[in-house]
Amino acid sequence: MSTSEKITSKQAIALEEKHGAHNYHPLPVVLSCGEGVFVWDVEGKRYYDFLSAYSAVNQGHCHPKIVGALTEQAQKLALTSRAFHNDVLGQYEKYITGIFGYDKVLPMNTGAEAVETAIKLCRKWAYRKKGVPENQAKIVVCENNFHGRTTTIVSFSNDPDGYKDYGPFTPGFIRIPYNDVDALKEALKDPNVAGFLFEPIQGEAGVFVPDEGYLTKTYELCKQNNVLFIADEVQTGIARTGKMLACDHENVKPDVVILGKAISGGLYPVSAVLANDDVMLVIKPGEHGSTFGGNPVAAKVAMAALEVIVEEKLAERAERLGELLRKELRAIKSDMLTLVRGKGLLNAIVIKPKGDKTAMDVCLKMAENGLLAKPTHGDKIRFAPPLVISEEQLMECVEIIRKSIESFE
Ligand SMILES: Cc1ncc(COP(=O)(O)O)c(C=O)c1O
Repeated sequence: MSTSEKITSKQAIALEEKHGAHNYHPLPVVLSCGEGVFVWDVEGKRYYDFLSAYSAVNQGHCHPKIVGALTEQAQKLALTSRAFHNDVLGQYEKYITGIFGYDKVLPMNTGAEAVETAIKLCRKWAYRKKGVPENQAKIVVCENNFHGRTTTIVSFSNDPDGYKDYGPFTPGFIRIPYNDVDALKEALKDPNVAGFLFEPIQGEAGVFVPDEGYLTKTYELCKQNNVLFIADEVQTGIARTGKMLACDHENVKPDVVILGKAISGGLYPVSAVLANDDVMLVIKPGEHGSTFGGNPVAAKVAMAALEVIVEEKLAERAERLGELLRKELRAIKSDMLTLVRGKGLLNAIVIKPKGDKTAMDVCLKMAENGLLAKPTHGDKIRFAPPLVISEEQLMECVEIIRKSIESFE
């Protein structure tokens, strides 16, 4: 078989099974194209995408403006490394820092790399600014966190799938329960704590939304204790929850913001760390970087992707349609559907198994009916369509979900 030959779903899955590492367990669909809220499999069946590549495709698949930026820049200049300047990076840096209101941005590629960057930034700030004794800095993190897959990041995960057999682990992290202000207050009694790293809504944990006021109270505690408030907005950011950042719901401004995924509309791996000068400038030339970070294609793509969010008012749309989606999902009458939660268009339902039928069976049924979603942690299904979805399309999706769940009654 030549590399360009058209193949069936069955053949494509068999090739992955035989030649690819078995580090994922995808639904048995093989997608070959996408546009807006839709994706098509190799047999031509159309699906609503209710995962959006874990919220990377907020702007919809193959958004023409972002594709245009990518192809135009790719034909002009793709990569210079940071050994030289390029003529796009500065413009992007000005644009993104302007949108989010920070002095500086540090560009990376993946979400995990941006989290690593924030951890290094926080530690360096601890030694250079806060006066923590060398190698003693600690960062407070939350139970059930998901910040990526690097060795250091899995060191502070409590999910055995994430950390088991990957030790020895990086020290310097204190894990506290999520959504527990008192636990943070207690942890901050340690003078060597330099940062609090958290997700404003825990995405991978099943879209766990903390109580209202949690962000404000934890922010204030960090301020009182001279501790950096570090928001991982890789999944919640870029309009997904109904605001540009999920922290905007409580009007708190993190000291460090971590962005990824939808910052490129899913077209290119782009991530970023934002902070003001007093924090960001502790890292000096040669002390951190990445060959691809800040390359001209990434910079052009990210600018276009952010412009789409603003021009198409996608935060407002996510807020409005999210309310509608949760209201409609709560109206579905089924013993299997025990909980609906979320913010904006980042939502999840919790499925109680019926006999041997689980959340995975619900997802397979929805796929059969033309909607793709994936279970997380066994019983939860995330519903996060591209934010460009129309109200009419959303209502059609509610019908597919209703029909699929009710088929098990
Ligand atoms: C909150 C959060 N942080 C970091 C990451 C890691 O991003 P990446 O997979 O691009 O490394 C994810 C990915 O799901 C995430 O949800």
